[in-house]
Amino acid sequence: MSLQEYYEESYRRDQTLGAGELLQEAVSSAKGLFNFALESKERFLPESDWNGLRVLETGAGRGGVGLLLARLGARVTLVDFSPTALAQASAVYAAEGLEVETIEADVVHPDLALGQRFDLIIDSHLLHCLTEDPDRASYYRLISDHLTPTGIFIAESMVHRKALSIPEGFMLDPRNVLWQLIGSWRPVRRILDSLDLEEELNNSRFNIVYFYYYGQLGFVPHRSFLDLPTEILPAAVRLVVKNR
Ligand SMILES: C[S@@+](CC[C@H](N)C(=O)[O-])C[C@H]1O[C@@H](n2cnc3c(N)ncnc32)[C@H](O)[C@@H]1O
Repeated sequence: MSLQEYYEESYRRDQTLGAGELLQEAVSSAKGLFNFALESKERFLPESDWNGLRVLETGAGRGGVGLLLARLGARVTLVDFSPTALAQASAVYAAEGLEVETIEADVVHPDLALGQRFDLIIDSHLLHCLTEDPDRASYYRLISDHLTPTGIFIAESMVHRKALSIPEGFMLDPRNVLWQLIGSWRPVRRILDSLDLEEELNNSRFNIVYFYYYGQLGFVPHRSFLDLPTEILPAAVRLVVKNR
């Protein structure tokens, strides 16, 4: 099973949920990053209004952050390689009478072009799903090519912490790739040290304008990690970059 099929399968399991339940699920997990997006726009795009702001959410799933921004008047586009996730997102936005554009695509495809630029691109937990260096470089180029001259890219990503507990069925290799046994061993997350993430961004086409390590936030990469205390879960970084 490819990783794309793996995600697709996980969204298909929720096919029986109604738009109301999907909405609740999408919105409840998006609130933290939504508030960070509000703060970041005030700070880095103070002249722009939410109304009509062009927003792209990458690896959007059901597009929870985008939905909260669409409520403020943003023109939202979602990109994800799971058609089921995008169909569920469309149903959720339609239930609120909000418009959304969905694009089914692999964000690491080197030739991907979305045909427009965005004032704000937001990544809610996609970056750490991209485990290979060439894929991450390709993704950064996609972001850079699709920002307006003043546009900002906002992301929240899981990062390494010294005491990290890895449950059975997972392993962490020396490149900080987390592998999961799904029939065979599959690379599922890249849990970089925050300093390495910072260096990776600096080596791309970006200027980092905000980069903060949130040790008090614990990331649950998979439900097998659910019972672990925060101190031994991956931590979080929130970041904002602009094109150099
Ligand atoms: C960890 S989930 C995050 C979903 C949502 N953004 C959230 O915060 O709940 C990662 C999402 O990225 C999508 N994804 C992973 N790799 C991708 C790729 N290479 N291209 C496009 N979408 C991808 C998956 O289908 C999934 O919806």
